[in-house]
Amino acid sequence: SPAQAAAASSLTFKELQRVRDTADHWPQGYGRQILARWGDALFPDSPAFDIASLDGKAAERQFGYNNDFTQFLPLPQGSTASDRGLMVVSHEYATPFLMFPGLTDEDYREKLTDNQIRALMGCLGVSIFEVAKTGRDWKIVLDSRYNRRIHMGTQMDISGPAAGDDRLKTKADPTGRTVFGTISNCNGGITPWGTMLSGEEGAMDVFAGDYKTLPNQELVERQGWDEDENDIYSVSRVDPRFKFEEEPNEWMRFDWVVEIDPFDPQAMPVKRTSLGRMTHEGAQVTVAPDGRVVVFMGDDDDFEYLYRFVTRDPWNPADRAANKDLLDNGTLSVAKFSSDGTMTWLPLVAGQGQLTAEAGFATQADVVLNTRAAADLVGATPMDAPEGFVPHHGTGKLYVAMTENEDRLAAGKGDERETVNIANPRGPNPHGHLLELVPPGAPDKPDHAADTFKWDVFVLCGDPAKPEDEAMFNPGTTASGWFTDPDNLGVDPAGRLWVTTDGPPPEGIADSMYVMDTEGPGRALPKLFYIAPVGSECCSPTFTPDGTGVFVSVQHPGELRMSDNEDATTMADAGTAWPDFADGMPARPSLVVITRDDNGVVGN
Ligand code: FEO
Ligand code: CA
Ligand code: CA
Ligand code: CA
Repeated sequence: SPAQAAAASSLTFKELQRVRDTADHWPQGYGRQILARWGDALFPDSPAFDIASLDGKAAERQFGYNNDFTQFLPLPQGSTASDRGLMVVSHEYATPFLMFPGLTDEDYREKLTDNQIRALMGCLGVSIFEVAKTGRDWKIVLDSRYNRRIHMGTQMDISGPAAGDDRLKTKADPTGRTVFGTISNCNGGITPWGTMLSGEEGAMDVFAGDYKTLPNQELVERQGWDEDENDIYSVSRVDPRFKFEEEPNEWMRFDWVVEIDPFDPQAMPVKRTSLGRMTHEGAQVTVAPDGRVVVFMGDDDDFEYLYRFVTRDPWNPADRAANKDLLDNGTLSVAKFSSDGTMTWLPLVAGQGQLTAEAGFATQADVVLNTRAAADLVGATPMDAPEGFVPHHGTGKLYVAMTENEDRLAAGKGDERETVNIANPRGPNPHGHLLELVPPGAPDKPDHAADTFKWDVFVLCGDPAKPEDEAMFNPGTTASGWFTDPDNLGVDPAGRLWVTTDGPPPEGIADSMYVMDTEGPGRALPKLFYIAPVGSECCSPTFTPDGTGVFVSVQHPGELRMSDNEDATTMADAGTAWPDFADGMPARPSLVVITRDDNGVVGN
């Protein structure tokens, strides 16, 4: 019975009841703190947040907008400190007409002032800052030497197979090895040596001009170019390289994985082209038994693929500097699922198999610059918008989230690419699903670098009470516990799987955070732990090593209206003004930390 199943879960907190309103909600016996809001100071000299005077200089000294990837890294580095650490946080995108008064979704491109455009460029990218806990109270350490902002103007290197390629050269960078800025920083990962990997997810929207003037139309099309969404920040007005006609190669210099060292504020970020160019959701890292480093990546668009990168050499735990360029050499591969319960990682290596010079893949630069086309050729399995990936530290299994794909077709209704397949079994798939991937050697010695894994469906999302949803959860799942649109995944120190969602959710349901066991009687039995304010997605659950704190990013609060769940079009009709609820103050994306009143392990 449901009651027995719930009792069997290792999670004993009192599950929330579903609600969708302007506020956020957390369990009884827990407290929630707002640790950082858009515009909060990260340095002793940061100007106070003031939307009337916000410009690039101010934004580059403050916590950015739409925080997505979130990770707590204990200080000192490599310790298990749970009261002091670095927060590394990405800032994915901005919605100008919800940030500044007097703009609408129709007119903002023309109405934005140059100062506002520079503010937008400054509030995207990455924030790195020290945090410390006194009693139950977390605070930003403003005078920490680690605090750093990376934004759309920060200089970075380009390394790996495509570095120096003619297709990456611009007037400002005739070497093809230096780029200014990172864009659309979605989810990411942390390497064993403590650097952050940030996935650039869809920089195309930022560019202005006519994409038909670009020299490589086939690639433009395969990258899923959508003319209507161009020029979302009007940045080409202050920085002409963001116009196709001015600089036809600039767009090729984004949509990579960027490696950033949070422990060395002087270290130049590096775009690692070995990991391919696509709509990078994240880059979750684990280590194979032989010490080689393995990075798992989703390409977040309908019918795109799951990727993996395995370094050529093992990492060196004794010498941090020796790992500096480890990610430049290795093998990129893409997932193909089979009906016998196995999946294979197919190498994307120039000159191997179908990836011939005749097919356009003479060099590895050709492969990484056109990763999707290479993956098409080798016969990868098209997925339903793959996002979060997480390796389980106890069982060695991997969990991966397919958010949803309304365009997936039922059997016999279309071509092979668009039709349901063994790993994406529902067409259409409006609610998403989670897969469980099992490498050989799990649980004791999981080999994440192996060519063949086993796999299974973990959950099919949707409402178990609606037969048409074809949902599949543990039968003990309550009316508040099921979810749709899974995006980011986390595993806590006790081994429980946390899922955050990114709608659009069904009527009356807010994007939220859920937690469940992955083994035992509570397997796949999610419980509702945190509800975000209307219009927010929840991102990137991360934990203190002792499990007493869970951090979560609340991205784009108020993006939907309360009244009809439709997109808000002005600051005034945003669904909420969370978390300040102050006159004239917009909703502010924020980083939240949740702890228990008795300082116990969250979820227990
Ligand atoms: Fe930025 Fe795939 O969500
Ligand atoms: Ca995401
Ligand atoms: Ca999103
Ligand atoms: Ca998403």
